[in-house]
Amino acid sequence: MDFKKRMKLLFGALLLLGNLFAQNVHVSTPHTSLVLSAPQGGELRYMYYGHKLSESDFSNFEIVGGKQRVVKTIAAAYPAYGMNCPTESALAVKHTDGNMTLQLEVVKTLEKQDGNATVNVIELKDKLYPFFVNVCYKAYQDVDIIEVWTEVFHQEKETVVLNQFASAYLPIRRGDVWLSHLYGSWANEGQLSQEALAPGMKIIKNKDGVRNSHTSHAEVMFSLDGKPQENTGRVIGAALCYSGNYELRIDTRDDEYHHFFAGINEENSNYSLKKDELFCTPHLALTYSDEGLSGSSRNFHRWARLHKLAHGSTLRKILLNSWEGVYFDIHQVGMDQMMADISSMGGELFVMDDGWFGDKYPRNSDNSSLGDWAVDKKKLPDGIGSLLANAEKHGIKFGIWIEPEMTNIASELYEQHPDWIIKASDREPVLGRGGTQVVLDLANPAVQNFIFKIVDDLMTAYPAIDYIKWDANMSIMNHGSQYLTKDNQSHMYIEFHRGFEKVCQRIRTKYPDLTIQACASGGGRANYGILPYFDEFWVSDNTDALQRIYMQWGTSYFFPAIAMESHISATPNHQTFRAIPLKYRVDVAMSGRLGMEIQPKNMTEEEKTLCKNAITEYKVIRPIVQLGDIYRLMSPYDKLGVASLMYVAPEKDKAVFYWWKTEHFVNQHLPRVRMAGLCPDKQYKVHELNRIDNTPLSFEGRFFSGVYLMANGLEIPYNHRVDYQKQNDYSSRVLYLEEVE
Ligand code: GLA
Repeated sequence: MDFKKRMKLLFGALLLLGNLFAQNVHVSTPHTSLVLSAPQGGELRYMYYGHKLSESDFSNFEIVGGKQRVVKTIAAAYPAYGMNCPTESALAVKHTDGNMTLQLEVVKTLEKQDGNATVNVIELKDKLYPFFVNVCYKAYQDVDIIEVWTEVFHQEKETVVLNQFASAYLPIRRGDVWLSHLYGSWANEGQLSQEALAPGMKIIKNKDGVRNSHTSHAEVMFSLDGKPQENTGRVIGAALCYSGNYELRIDTRDDEYHHFFAGINEENSNYSLKKDELFCTPHLALTYSDEGLSGSSRNFHRWARLHKLAHGSTLRKILLNSWEGVYFDIHQVGMDQMMADISSMGGELFVMDDGWFGDKYPRNSDNSSLGDWAVDKKKLPDGIGSLLANAEKHGIKFGIWIEPEMTNIASELYEQHPDWIIKASDREPVLGRGGTQVVLDLANPAVQNFIFKIVDDLMTAYPAIDYIKWDANMSIMNHGSQYLTKDNQSHMYIEFHRGFEKVCQRIRTKYPDLTIQACASGGGRANYGILPYFDEFWVSDNTDALQRIYMQWGTSYFFPAIAMESHISATPNHQTFRAIPLKYRVDVAMSGRLGMEIQPKNMTEEEKTLCKNAITEYKVIRPIVQLGDIYRLMSPYDKLGVASLMYVAPEKDKAVFYWWKTEHFVNQHLPRVRMAGLCPDKQYKVHELNRIDNTPLSFEGRFFSGVYLMANGLEIPYNHRVDYQKQNDYSSRVLYLEEVE
């Protein structure tokens, strides 16, 4: 056989071998599948993401006996820049020698178990350079979530600059795809926006540096079957698990897919990767549901409760927070009075907010003292110990506010450590809240130790502290780390969040039982980057019940009620100045993780009684609200005059239905709201909670089948039947459904 023939044969055999090695990776959860083609020495490509594949359907994705696949691959799973420059990429680097191209090929695939999740790792290597990328997929076996991320490292001589480093890319088949995402601002967080995806680039991003959910959110949903529906249609959801600057890109060019990229926002954040240093991107959590947006939310919520949120399956205590009640006017007698009041209404926890600390610089307003975490003896002569003793006397727990990542230039901390703040070298810092606030440089290990010690000192001195409200009221206004070298200044945003996470990990290791709330000028920190360390977050500084319906509706797309702090506050509301009757304020707060943010001393006995009853009733429904499945029924954003949602217990034996009128006119014709998520065959007894009407509803105590309630709903009266002088323009109902045999 001549050489040419032998080479031909060998080449044929290699081709066959290549096909034999052609390998599909089938990543699956209970109801979803994601399929990748990962041929050794070839490109890692997406093939499928959606409803779970049966074995026979999956066989269409495989190459059997060297034959073509029935289902073709879609696109590179982790597109790298340089060898196909005009398309969008997930990864772009500059090698040590200045070369700006990457060509990644599959080296091998691994599968391992992590708890009850399966992790598939596809190891990629550049064809030319010792540059490696692991693309990782973690598929949970008890919830329909797949987390995707990458790990990047190299063995080139010197640093390689990472210019783009997305966590993940996902092609989404075009059709009539609609995007749902959240936007907003301080006091208007969690606003829902829904739009059909059109050609061009849609970018959702954040550059705050510290908080990342005041404005847009790092989570989105794609409705694949036209205008988004809550309880029908196919939906892909994505949530970036990161607390810092992020960017979500959706590129729609003239082909069959929307190209979705998600990861850290690389703007002003080029990363110089040293030889053998491992760069891990944040995880992107993907979900798929064919039960509409609410179905996708239920997947995120279940995952949050079981795997993400600190103490995700533990019921939250009903609390009173001092902020809107007394603001900075903290003193011993006032705190004792508030504790007595919340205890008498059946509450379980009191949280002392801002204003309790500072010695040389007492914290009487927002223009000083952050960093000086010693009790202000003038306000609290007997200290925290005495507050804890009083809380115990009242049979409640005690919590405290801190803002550990910050200082003011009017503080002892700043006087001692001016080098600990974030600022550009040789420049005066731009100042934040109160005209004096600055952000500490969490890249600096000394700062990390200091922040850990704030919590550690409090908890060591007062182990009975049950709850910490952790606030963060400033953006990074100045680009400059006084700790990082001049070559690594572009690492500042990333190192801030690495430092933050390190501190959180230390706190959680030492204090696993502590409840910690993430607050950031309201809802600035609703994200899955921090939630593993935090139990809950403050949805917004805006406590107006009507506006909260919109904010909580949006927030519920991605976050479960157990994490969404929702407080009953005063009227007129301190942010909108709207006067809303207590019944309505209570009914809205009770749809989340209930608390109060009010001066009880200013409430009438009648109001206190209403709250006391509501707290008693909330204790009954708390497991359903906090651990149940959400079904959003009628959106406030649809402006139909009413908003409604319900929570159903996993066993479907109990449910809570919320109905809030959002507009008020004479001769209104509101739609009747059909329920969802019930068991069609079960009979449910209906009981109204928080009733203020003189007479019960016509269906009070009556039984209805699940099928009836889901097909027809109940005819809810538009107004409350109360005495003439108590009538007003608000109306709301909370119905408790309980299965009867
Ligand atoms: C932020 C928080 C509020 C309150 C104040 C205290 O604005 O969102 O809830 O804690 O700080 O200064």
